Amino acid sequence: MKALVIGSGGREHALVWKLRQEGFEVFCAPGNGGICQDATCYEARSVDELLQLALREKMDLTIVGPEAYLAQGVVDVFESHGLKIFGPNKRASQLECSKVYAKLLMDESGIPTARFKLFDDPAQAERYVERCDLPVVIKADGLAQGKGSYVVMSREEAFNVIDSLMRKKIFGEAGERIVVEEFLQGREMSLMVFTDGKTYVPMMSAMDYKKIYDGDRGPNTGGMGAIAPAPHYSESLWRSVKEEILDKLFPALEKQNVIYKGVLYLGLMVTQDGPKVLEFNCRFGDPEIQVLLPLLDTKLSEVCFAVIEGNLERLPIVWREEKGVCVVIASGGYPNDYKVGFTISGLESVEGVMVFHAGTKQQDGRFLTNGGRVLNICATGQTYEEARKKVYSEIGKIRFEGMYFRKDIGLV
Ligand code: AMP
Ligand code: GLY
Repeated sequence: MKALVIGSGGREHALVWKLRQEGFEVFCAPGNGGICQDATCYEARSVDELLQLALREKMDLTIVGPEAYLAQGVVDVFESHGLKIFGPNKRASQLECSKVYAKLLMDESGIPTARFKLFDDPAQAERYVERCDLPVVIKADGLAQGKGSYVVMSREEAFNVIDSLMRKKIFGEAGERIVVEEFLQGREMSLMVFTDGKTYVPMMSAMDYKKIYDGDRGPNTGGMGAIAPAPHYSESLWRSVKEEILDKLFPALEKQNVIYKGVLYLGLMVTQDGPKVLEFNCRFGDPEIQVLLPLLDTKLSEVCFAVIEGNLERLPIVWREEKGVCVVIASGGYPNDYKVGFTISGLESVEGVMVFHAGTKQQDGRFLTNGGRVLNICATGQTYEEARKKVYSEIGKIRFEGMYFRKDIGLV
């Protein structure tokens, strides 16, 4: 059987790794340095190039990594050619691709989320932030490579953000509309569910470490590490998520004739009043899935086929009763400017952990850095501490100029 993974990050490397274990011949487009060791990589990038590749190779299954492809309707195109592809279609992916859409849907359905106002006029937004409570959170409506949300501490900063998004249009059309929302206090958690549109099944919970520095300080990043399960997850929390969020969301989507299939990621803030939705994502979390896949006993491909064929109800999904830790090694300077092209050494002596490549490329038999987040080092253990120790002892063997990682991932 042949599987295609679309994307080029650590998430996609973890997906490739899992599918290979399940006996697939795996292809990836465009892939990265590490992925190309485990899969046949193709330079296909546009939806049409990906379609031609999938048709030519007669792929049995395609899994979409990044949201941008979902927003372009890759699922609709593949399905119209009779190909099996895992992910929501273009309409359903609005839940991630338009924060305005997601907020309005939550509002209409009574789903707990931060109180908000929507603006398409910068002057009106400025008038609002002149008198709103601080801190306040400002978010671009559309996709902004994970950089479109700002927790703003002062009015001056709020004016700057509004100006950058709405007048300077640093994210183009994505910032023409914005959401200004209440700052929520609590503990964040990532919870993903598999769904075939009728049934939804939660994955093991996870928590990612979004800030660049130890102790959750500094600017937000794409994620500097993850652990699973989230230490503050409980059965009663799940019941609240189910009753307050998912049991309202799916009927609301159905009312709009939206059938959501694939994985739905809930970015949650667990507040004193219960869980509230920070964001929906329409794809696997990165780096959450890197920490979760090694704990998934069931075949991912079986789950994907059950989702695509609409019989998820019948499939038991089993997780190992262990803990997972994943630490991201980044380029010095990330999430701001950084340099690439440094030789990565020591990878050959790393053992007992999973190494998922993100921003790397291969050149003359060496791995070079090629992005902000470079490597994900992941391990499992009976305790967070056991998994943590494995990860950090192996990281000690890896070197590249300017490498940076957080030292406190998995200290719970
Ligand atoms: P988002 O792009 O919506 O996931 O936001 C990125 C990050 O900003 C989240 O993971 C939170 O750390 C933070 N954040 C977003 N919205 C809020 C909020 N309403 N209150 C507090 N923090 C938030
Ligand atoms: N780790 C957060 C995300 O994937 O959006």
